[in-house]
Amino acid sequence: MREAQRVALITGITGQDGSYLAELLLAKGYDVHGLIRRSSVFNTERIEHLLKDSHDPESRLHLHYGDLLDSSSLRRLMEDIRPTEVYNLAAQTHVRVSFDMPEYTAHTITVGTTSLLEAIHQSGVRPRFYQAGSSEMYGDVLESTQNEDTPFRPQSPYAAAKVGAHMMVRVYREAYDLFAVNGTLFNHESPRRSPSFVTRKITRGAARILAELDDSIYLGNLNAQRDWGYAPEYMGAIWAMLQQDTPEDFVIATGETHSVREFLEETFRLARLDVASHVRFDSVYLRPAEVNLLRGDASRAKARLGWEPQTRFKQLVRLMLEADCREVGLDPNSVLLPA
Ligand code: NAP
Ligand code: GDD
Repeated sequence: MREAQRVALITGITGQDGSYLAELLLAKGYDVHGLIRRSSVFNTERIEHLLKDSHDPESRLHLHYGDLLDSSSLRRLMEDIRPTEVYNLAAQTHVRVSFDMPEYTAHTITVGTTSLLEAIHQSGVRPRFYQAGSSEMYGDVLESTQNEDTPFRPQSPYAAAKVGAHMMVRVYREAYDLFAVNGTLFNHESPRRSPSFVTRKITRGAARILAELDDSIYLGNLNAQRDWGYAPEYMGAIWAMLQQDTPEDFVIATGETHSVREFLEETFRLARLDVASHVRFDSVYLRPAEVNLLRGDASRAKARLGWEPQTRFKQLVRLMLEADCREVGLDPNSVLLPA
């Protein structure tokens, strides 16, 4: 089989992960199809560099309008594209926002995933299927490290909706013998992370303070601890999950945990900025229920997929801060502490 006959469909291709996954699959020779939503402004900024030759008949990247909430578009795509792999990354991804929009969050995540699985089932096309699960599903954890056997105790509408999608994937796998896999990924960040999430908010905020575009960053709970990895590496892991002989669920994580305060302090240390002078508290960023501690154990991924994280906490902070400095026109070598 020619490499290009491997056909992937990515939902959420315009997001952080979708953009890195599209790059990875194109580099491996796949035809890549992405589901995009109609928006009043262009929402393809993260994949613009991949779209340059989209008018070239040889282009292997194809975008299709659709929505996880529109099952007719999902059914049509399945029949038209006949993918060999489907990566379901689309979701309402913000935990705080899920408390404001619980029904919408459940619709996009739980019902949307079910619609996609059902579209696959009814089409008779039998692609391998990846579901983007989240460490947030562990929620109110009883154990200091979480692996594939740790029970889910969701603490937000987002997490509960992801648990529903996770269970639905298992049902389709067992009932219809579908090659369907849940990845439970811990937080992963990059310069393409939306600034509505705390890491990018901090690195972007620090760069803007250095460039004298802003004076302050407003944050909520600094005590929560997260296991933060580097997004492009996590996309390599999810691809590997679909190349196994049998479908199996995996945790992907670094095994390290750090508080939001530590992320803030490391950023400000590198930027030679004073936290007390520039960081303010705003209760608007607090959540009705908070996940206090996440730390993943990815030993199964190491054993079966040969996957291990490469980028560690301090490297992650630096690479994000350097990218944000460049974005505001600053040379990181001039404004940041040397490595
Ligand atoms: P992201 O940057 O917020 O991207 C979300 C994507 O979903 C965007 O492309 C968005 O389209 C699309 N989308 C949202 N609602 C949709 C709908 N109804 N129909 C079709 N597309 C829709 O998220 P991410 O960080 O790349 O995360 C990717 C997936 O991994 C998500 O499912 C997330 O829950 C999960 N996850 C992420 C992390 C993490 O740390 N990043 C950890 C665990 C799990 P627009 O561009 O049009 O908004
Ligand atoms: N977003 C945000 N904004 N979070 C803040 C802020 C702020 O101003 N101040 C403090 N935080 C705290 C939050 O309360 C939370 O404890 C922590 O920073 C991380 O918040 P986010 O960056 O929003 O990420 P998240 O952990 O809630 O969710 C992300 O990771 C999940 C995996 O565990 C998202 O990417 C989810 O989609 C993903 O599933």
